[in-house]
Amino acid sequence: MKITEIEKAEGKLGVLIVGVGGAVASTFIAGTLAARKGLAKPIGSITQLAHIKLKKSEGVTNPKIKEVVPLAELNDIVFGGWDIFPENAYESALHAEVLLQKDLEGIRAEMEAIKPMKGAFDPNYAKRLNGTYTKTGTRWEMVEALRKDIRTFKTENNCSRLVIIWCGSTEIYTKPGIAHSSFANLEKALKSDNHEIAPSICYAYAAIAEGVPFINGAPNLTIDFPALMEFATLEGVPLCGKDFKTGQTMMKTVLAPMIKTRMLGLDGWFSTNILGNRDGEVLDDPDNFKTKEESKLSVIDNILDPELHPELYDDIFHKVRINYYPPRKDNKESWDNIDIVGWMGYPMQLKVNFLCRDSILAAPLCLDLVLFTDLAQRCGFSGIQNWLSFYFKSPMTELGAEPEHDLFVQFIQLKNTLRTIIGEETFDYVDAM
Ligand SMILES: NC(=O)c1ccc[n+]([C@@H]2O[C@H](COP(=O)([O-])OP(=O)(O)OC[C@H]3O[C@@H](n4cnc5c(N)ncnc54)[C@H](O)[C@@H]3O)[C@@H](O)[C@H]2O)c1
Repeated sequence: MKITEIEKAEGKLGVLIVGVGGAVASTFIAGTLAARKGLAKPIGSITQLAHIKLKKSEGVTNPKIKEVVPLAELNDIVFGGWDIFPENAYESALHAEVLLQKDLEGIRAEMEAIKPMKGAFDPNYAKRLNGTYTKTGTRWEMVEALRKDIRTFKTENNCSRLVIIWCGSTEIYTKPGIAHSSFANLEKALKSDNHEIAPSICYAYAAIAEGVPFINGAPNLTIDFPALMEFATLEGVPLCGKDFKTGQTMMKTVLAPMIKTRMLGLDGWFSTNILGNRDGEVLDDPDNFKTKEESKLSVIDNILDPELHPELYDDIFHKVRINYYPPRKDNKESWDNIDIVGWMGYPMQLKVNFLCRDSILAAPLCLDLVLFTDLAQRCGFSGIQNWLSFYFKSPMTELGAEPEHDLFVQFIQLKNTLRTIIGEETFDYVDAM
């Protein structure tokens, strides 16, 4: 079914980033600005580089996605956002030490012009942070101030559309309670300044109330509960999350399907990391790490399905650790020891040592998510966007539905949704890029 009424990607697309002063955000901004000036290649971005096979009467064609899917142009993006520190995007990028100063010089003026708005913050949700560039007031006052920021940014920058993406620090682990159970209860909680409502929820509420799509790049409980799902559907707003799938978990969602496809057994999977950026510092607090741990642990069981295969996977020992180690900064190193089992129960081991760069992996995901979520809204999609699961460690689903974790199944879902949007036949296999 072709989506016949896709609103054109005309005018400016405002991209508002929560945590605009962070490592991921400043790397995302720098790379996008550099790509549009021809100073760097958008490596890692599906929207900019990947192709899509289409079956035509004259045979199969393989154009670039961006040639056939009506995405916003990089030139039409205007960046803004919030942080709890006042540095502009250039200063933030220098502070993050992901990119070399020489790679920032060509875009310095544009980056210096991106100054954060004051963040809606509660130190109880990230105890290692001491930012003071913050909004004051109750939760409801924070929502109202954020809504005003959104409207002002849109008008001042002459944007026709906006997208909001959470690249803020991971908040402490929370479970949904009564306040999260319905839209009415959430409004009541916000108005009575109930501190069970995380600051990230104030941003998400404000976004939906302003009709702006919201992406959650961290594992916090921010949009994945009934009240906001209900609100987003009511307001016709797309949502997606959560927790960017970049390094170690991306490897897991490639290796675990391999183990299962060959009907090999698994005894244990030990994953550890060293990370020295501000994200690593926040995650050093056990309450914040718990949020990340839940997100990282969910993957293997879902892919291997121990209930269906008890003889292979009924007692897997799965451990994930993140160690804050400042000397490595953003250059995370991860080790995986995977104890697999073969023919007649003989044990074998697989070792993975990934020397990655966290923000270099996350930045292209931000760009793709922003462009695809804007597309979703122009197609009239609302609520959870399952087809964007490809990008997340803990893909959000309709309540009660099982998430899909296998990277290549997710990729088929992504491409087939794009094919459906443009009225093309879907494929049931992964096609080459
Ligand atoms: N880099 C990756 O590969 C990756 C993968 C998955 C998830 N993530 C998540 O993405 C997020 C960003 O990562 P990062 O490395 O850029 O972290 P970072 O610490 O460099 O940046 C986070 C920014 O958010 C700001 N912030 C915190 N609370 C805020 C609030 N309430 N309002 C506004 N700003 C706020 C901080 O001041 C900081 O500038 C983290 O939650 C991280 O766990 C990153």
